[in-house]
Amino acid sequence: MISESDLEALAQAHVRSLSPYTPGVQPEGDGWIKLNTNENPCPVSPEVAPAVESEIKRLRLYPDPRSEALRVAAAEICGVEPERVIVGNGSDDILNLLVRVFGGPERRTGFTVPGYSLYPILVSIAGGEGVGVEFDRSMRLPVSAIAESGTQLFFLTSPNAPTGVGFATAAIERILRSYRGILVVDEAYVDFAEENAGSLLGRYTNLVIVRTLSKSHGLAGIRIGYAVGSTAVIGLMDRVRDSYNVNRLSQAAAIASLADKSHFRSTLERIKGTREIARARFEKRGWFVYPSAANFLFVEPKNRSGDCGEEVAGNLYEYLLARRILVRWFPSHALTSGFLRISVGADSEMHALENAIESWLKNA
Ligand SMILES: Cc1ncc(COP(=O)(O)O)c(C=O)c1O
Repeated sequence: MISESDLEALAQAHVRSLSPYTPGVQPEGDGWIKLNTNENPCPVSPEVAPAVESEIKRLRLYPDPRSEALRVAAAEICGVEPERVIVGNGSDDILNLLVRVFGGPERRTGFTVPGYSLYPILVSIAGGEGVGVEFDRSMRLPVSAIAESGTQLFFLTSPNAPTGVGFATAAIERILRSYRGILVVDEAYVDFAEENAGSLLGRYTNLVIVRTLSKSHGLAGIRIGYAVGSTAVIGLMDRVRDSYNVNRLSQAAAIASLADKSHFRSTLERIKGTREIARARFEKRGWFVYPSAANFLFVEPKNRSGDCGEEVAGNLYEYLLARRILVRWFPSHALTSGFLRISVGADSEMHALENAIESWLKNA
């Protein structure tokens, strides 16, 4: 029998040294208030269940390998031709396809720091070189640093994660005027924002916009994301994707959800309303909160004595966790360690959070 260490030695060197992505905790059992992975608190469109139900009879058959009807639906929303759209098993699948095409050995892939921690991991899996471009506390877009990063591929999250700050389309265009690589604008949270980069697609062939149905459509469990870009870029991504990368049930659920525009609009309004109420409450306490164009708030808690920082944020995180309220804390970076990222939940969840914060302030 080959020993575990010899099996490990058979793996490629870059895989041996890889640390996998750590997703937000998905707790077992009931009674948790989950404000840690930016899921949508509203029920999904009522059109989704019958659409999935009707596909169950056909599970014996492979799904449409190109997810053609879903590409058409997404293309219509973005006002582009279907040839400019590709669909994936969540937008993580799409991000991975982009790295497969444009990243890899002897290639440089950029991303902003702090940011979505999957990007550098995908780059490492592909054996490429990651190039981090740092934000400062103002969270202003480092336009020249991105444009001059010397990368073939760059991931920009707008609205940003984990801060929620949205970048103006004009600032993104300033990058595109001189950047010669592929600029990916990851718009996972854009439906909660006031603007998106879609208007730039007609002018810049190196722009790829990535979106997901996990957040605004509340379909994180079915795994659907898509990208819109130039026909050439989408064609390259199609060459490297798994042939049946999106299953039959997910395709049907996504088409049904995209078609139900009134349900979509009303859930967005609800979440944005709750977000602003929560933001005002934090600010009333004198806590700093980045203006959010997403379905979460990035909040710098202050304790009873008015102190903030890593210890205070960590203390509140633990206090909430002990009361089965999950939020996200990113202690690994100086710009994030004093903050908590709190997803916008249902009203009852936000009240429970408020009450827990009140009691922390009294007791901590
Ligand atoms: C910035 C960003 N991009 C992409 C994703 C992945 O979303 P999906 O569920 O579509 O894979 C997330 C999920 O949290 C995210 O925060």
